[in-house]
Amino acid sequence: QRQRVNVTVTGAGGNIGYALMFRIASGQLLGPDVPVALRLLEIPSGLRAAEGSAFELQDSAFPLLREVLVTDDPVQAFDGANVAILVGSRPRGPGQQRADLLEGNARIFGPQGAAINAGAADDIRVVVVGNPANTNALVTASHAPDVPADRFTALTRLDHNRAVAQLAAHLSVPVTSVRGVAIWGNHSALQYPDVSHATIDGRPVRELVDEAWLVNEFIPRVANRGAEIIAVRGASSMGSAASATVDHVYDWVNGTGHDWTSAGVFSDGSYGVPAGLVSSYPVRSLGGRWAIEPGLAVDDFSRARINTSVAELQAERAAVSALGLLGPRESA
Ligand code: NAI
Repeated sequence: QRQRVNVTVTGAGGNIGYALMFRIASGQLLGPDVPVALRLLEIPSGLRAAEGSAFELQDSAFPLLREVLVTDDPVQAFDGANVAILVGSRPRGPGQQRADLLEGNARIFGPQGAAINAGAADDIRVVVVGNPANTNALVTASHAPDVPADRFTALTRLDHNRAVAQLAAHLSVPVTSVRGVAIWGNHSALQYPDVSHATIDGRPVRELVDEAWLVNEFIPRVANRGAEIIAVRGASSMGSAASATVDHVYDWVNGTGHDWTSAGVFSDGSYGVPAGLVSSYPVRSLGGRWAIEPGLAVDDFSRARINTSVAELQAERAAVSALGLLGPRESA
């Protein structure tokens, strides 16, 4: 068996946290031969729920689960962490806009970034799930200047998986036939699900679907799927968000092979996205690091959509910056 991996989950008493922890403890996050220690971080009002979930983890007798710690202390939760999954965030209240969320959440993710900087393991990998995920990842990284910027990511794999599944359903093919989908920009309704490089069993998607379907149905459906789930289910995406988080970390650690996927990563200026923003890109994981897929052609339609989404990221960054909520990292 391999060396034990310490996985910290914040918001562990919430919905996604609950769906996530059983997948982690069963070995699906990292692999079937990797022992796991779980650190569950909550705020005091969520501690009992997290403690109850920890009892359930114990009762599941997972062979790979070595230890479960429940705490409301970020310093303790991130001490020695190899993987940090930041789910806990301030939910959007009735009538609240996304922008209203920025300040409250920046006040959560700043201290967590500082705790990661102070105590996490040298190989720490961070994925931010809690919304607004891209900007929360930026804030977290800005408070962890000693950790390389490429260790901070935002979850857009759920959007990617939704896009793959919508294409597969529309064309009546298995999801495994779909390759080359990409999500660009912000994890929000302004994201850009891009099929211009996508193929179905090797045939370009653009030859198989008409433009009207792409523009009027596919893109809005993927981008607004979270709202659709809430409307139909009466509660937000939990299982699918947890599943996408598992996909993201598994691929980051174990590699994506010959296919790319999508993740929010720090821009290096690629594809005209200003460096220092956390933007979704088509990415491959090689040797345990995400690399932005280079050299893809971007047509005028894609360019306009990417620019719109990136403008929203810039506005979010400007908002948290104006509030003085960015930390000491120069590049952020
Ligand atoms: P939830 O409200 O059920 O759970 C959130 C938990 O976080 C609560 O138990 C709360 O006590 C805890 N929490 C709040 N502040 C915290 C802090 N400072 N430290 C530790 N824990 C804290 O919400 P749910 O359904 O689990 O969703 C969590 C987040 O994930 C939301 O922001 C949601 O918008 C986001 N989300 C992101 C997706 C993505 O694709 N990136 C997809 C679906 C949801």
